[in-house]
Amino acid sequence: MFQGLSSAPPDAILGLTEAFKKDTNPNKINLGVGVYKDEEGRTPILHCVKEAEQRLVDEETTKSYMPMGGAPEYAQAVQSLLLGEAYAGAGRVRTAHTPGGTGGLRVGAESIHLFAPQASIWLSTPTWANHRAVFSAAGLPIREYPYYDPATKGVEIDALLESLQGVPAGDVVLLHVCCHNPTGVDLNVTQWRQVAAIAAERGWTPFLDFAYQGFGEGLVEDAAGLAPFLETGIEMWIASSFSKNFGLYCERTGAVTLVAADANAAETAFGHVELLIRRNYSNPPAHGGRIVTTVLGDDRLRGVWLEELSGMRERVRSIRAAFAEGLRQRGVERDFSFIQAQRGMFSFSGLNDAQVDRLRAEYGIYIVKGGRINVAGVTTRNLDYLCDAIAAVL
Ligand code: LMR
Repeated sequence: MFQGLSSAPPDAILGLTEAFKKDTNPNKINLGVGVYKDEEGRTPILHCVKEAEQRLVDEETTKSYMPMGGAPEYAQAVQSLLLGEAYAGAGRVRTAHTPGGTGGLRVGAESIHLFAPQASIWLSTPTWANHRAVFSAAGLPIREYPYYDPATKGVEIDALLESLQGVPAGDVVLLHVCCHNPTGVDLNVTQWRQVAAIAAERGWTPFLDFAYQGFGEGLVEDAAGLAPFLETGIEMWIASSFSKNFGLYCERTGAVTLVAADANAAETAFGHVELLIRRNYSNPPAHGGRIVTTVLGDDRLRGVWLEELSGMRERVRSIRAAFAEGLRQRGVERDFSFIQAQRGMFSFSGLNDAQVDRLRAEYGIYIVKGGRINVAGVTTRNLDYLCDAIAAVL
C-alpha cells in the first residue's frame, strides 16, 4: 500500500520549521510558526507553569484515563476565561478538553458534519492556512467571506456584512475572536454586534476561533466579541487554546465549547461530541489541562500568570513599534506603520510571494506565503538584520 504514493506537500506553516532547521545560514530567523520568543530568542516555559508542574510531580497520584471530554474542573476553568462568570457553568454550555485548539476545531468540525450534514463552513479571506484543511477533512464544503482589504489594511466591513447576510440558515461561519490570523486586524465591538445580529436573524451558526486570548489587549478585552453572541441566545461553537497564552504549545491543551439553546440540548449534543472523541483519540492528554487548572485555581499562581502574559503581550507590542520604525529608518517607500496597529502575534506585511521566497533563499528569513510575519519571533537582536533584508527585497 505504500508503493507509488506521490509525496505529501509540506505544511504551509509547520513545513517552514522543518526547512528552517536544515538551513545552515548562521543569521537565519524563523518567523513562520506562531510561537512566542523572548529577547534571547527562546520560547520560555512560564514560571507559573514550572511551579504548577513541580506541584503536579509531587502531588499527582494517578495516571489513569481522563473522561472523554476531559476533567470537569478544566471545563469550568476554560468557560470562566472565555465567557466570564455570568455564563461559565451555565447548563447550555459544555466544554471538551481537546488536543490543542486545532483538536478543538476538528472535533467541532466533525460534530457539525454529524449534526448538520448539509452545512458548509464559511472562512474569512484570508484565514489561518490550516482552517480549510481541518474542515475539509471533516467533510464540510468550504465557502469564503471577504475580510481584509489590502488597500486600507483594515477589515472590509461593508463587504463582510453583506456576505454574511447571504449565508444560508444552517451553515456555519468561522470567526476569529481576536488577533486575526494571519492579518492581525480585528472587528471592533460595534462590528461584532452587527455580525451577531445577522447570525441571529439569518439563522447561521458562529464558530468562534479563540486561540490568542490575552495577546491583543488583555484577557477580558480580547473576549469582547463573544458577548454579543451570548446575549442573542443563539447556538455556537468555540475553539480555544492555551498554546499561546500559557506557552503550552507541545502539551496540546485546547478545548471545544458548545453553547446550545438550553441545557437539555447541550447535554444531548455533548454526548455525541464525547462519542466522536472516543472514536478518535479516546480521551485527552491530562498534563497540560492539569497545569492550567492548578495555575488558575491558585490566586498567587494566577497572579504570576497574568504578569507573564502581560509581559509577552507588551514585548510584542514594543517590537512592533521598533519594527515599523526600523523599516522607516531604512527609507523603504511603503508605509509600514500599520504593523503597529495590528494585534496579536502576526503582521500581514504585504510582502508578495516572490519577496517571501527571496527572504528565505538569500537571508534565511522564514515567513509564511502570503506575507504573514510572526512578530512575536522578532527581537532587538534580529531586528536590524530583518529590516535590512526586507528593505533589500523591496
Ligand atoms: C500558527 O498559525 O502559526 C499557529 O497557529 C501554529 C499552527 O499550528 O499553525
